[in-house]
Amino acid sequence: MAVDVVLGLQWGDEGKGKIVDVLSESYQLVARFQGGPNAGHTLEFGGRKFVLNTIPSGVFSPNTVNLIGNGVVIDPVGFKAEVEGLKTHGFDLLTSGNLKIAKRAHLILPTHQLLDAASERELGTNKIGSTLKGIGPAYMDKTGRSGLRVGDILLPDFMDRYQKLVAKHQSILLVLYGEVPDFTDREQAFFDGVEFLKQFALVDAEHLIHQCLQEGHRILAEGAQGTLLDVDFGTYPFVTASTTITAGACIGLGVAPQKIGEVIGIFKAYCTRVGGGPFPTEQINEIGEQLRQTGKEFGAVSGRPRRTGWLDLPALKQAILLNGVTQLVMTKADVLDNFEQINVCTHYLQDSVKIDYLPYEMDQHNIEPVYKTFPGWQTAISSMSTAAEMPEALKAYLRFLESALGLPVRYLSVGPDRMQTIDLF
Ligand code: GTP
Repeated sequence: MAVDVVLGLQWGDEGKGKIVDVLSESYQLVARFQGGPNAGHTLEFGGRKFVLNTIPSGVFSPNTVNLIGNGVVIDPVGFKAEVEGLKTHGFDLLTSGNLKIAKRAHLILPTHQLLDAASERELGTNKIGSTLKGIGPAYMDKTGRSGLRVGDILLPDFMDRYQKLVAKHQSILLVLYGEVPDFTDREQAFFDGVEFLKQFALVDAEHLIHQCLQEGHRILAEGAQGTLLDVDFGTYPFVTASTTITAGACIGLGVAPQKIGEVIGIFKAYCTRVGGGPFPTEQINEIGEQLRQTGKEFGAVSGRPRRTGWLDLPALKQAILLNGVTQLVMTKADVLDNFEQINVCTHYLQDSVKIDYLPYEMDQHNIEPVYKTFPGWQTAISSMSTAAEMPEALKAYLRFLESALGLPVRYLSVGPDRMQTIDLF
């Protein structure tokens, strides 16, 4: 048995949550491997809509166990609110016992959130576009070897460890702000959240995963954000603080590389990104606005309008290579329903030289995207459920993508609902 991986091939918001939800029925374990509550996995079924930030998207499949892996950073306050929110909709994760948390996952402290805000303020117009949830500073403490982990909350000296880390943060905040903002309320909520966490199964997650593999269970690793936001291979420094590629599933769950099975790469039929940083195919015009409005491209967590543009094949090819993708899923194809023409960037010109990957020197001004234009299908596809029903123009567009990317498109998502998914195999 192997661990299959679902991850984003662009700048996040590709619709991973929906696809994990669709796939999770056939997996016994779904495990989030990186990121924090900056993820906004949106799922729709039975006329209801849910946004998951930290909880894995397999949580609505009754027979699937869900695991928050060691690579994730957890805000106990947000986590408690998320679990309680689900309970009001009839999903009681405490009673069902289908959520486990890695003891090695790191905690986001109230002072991490203050540090996040201070850091963005310092950067001024060059700010990263952080969600200000304290995720970057929590990962900094992890690699700085001073972070607090979920398992620490069970230790008798947890308070001492907490105070020590907070004292460090306070001294940094003093330098940045000139004073330490009051965080009494946040701190109270944090300790409430910590108590709440104790009710869940806090586990040696890597051991659980190996046990599941030995017992022949199917495991799905769920990524957040996207490949082009990876801390090493994304458009640095406009990236997230974690490893979003397949290697991150190994690190964030304790899985050996040879145990990785299918790598299911999700991409939208166009591109979006939130925050600053390079975006070669961005459309700051009517086309971009049409994509934004039709695709409802506003952040699930922040509400911020997303930047929008045409599909970018050089970026996608790079993402496929970095991840070892074996199957593709294209989402939001329906957003292009009304376009007369659809552009796809096939390569870039950098100082008049043709390139088909994202170079280190990439910067918005010296990369020129070159497009191939396709006729739009101009048909509503959201209610289609088989490949046979699909318009010819859409089939031709998909055939082109499969041949350019060298991989099959396994599923086509034609709407936000679970049911609006066409299996192309
Ligand atoms: P991040 O980890 O935050 O990047 O999340 P994500 O990849 O799960 O994506 P997110 O849920 O933030 O954004 C996808 C949005 O598109 C959600 O609102 C989904 O309900 C919606 N969506 C997903 N698939 C489709 C689709 O095929 N068509 C349309 N119209 N909407 C879709």
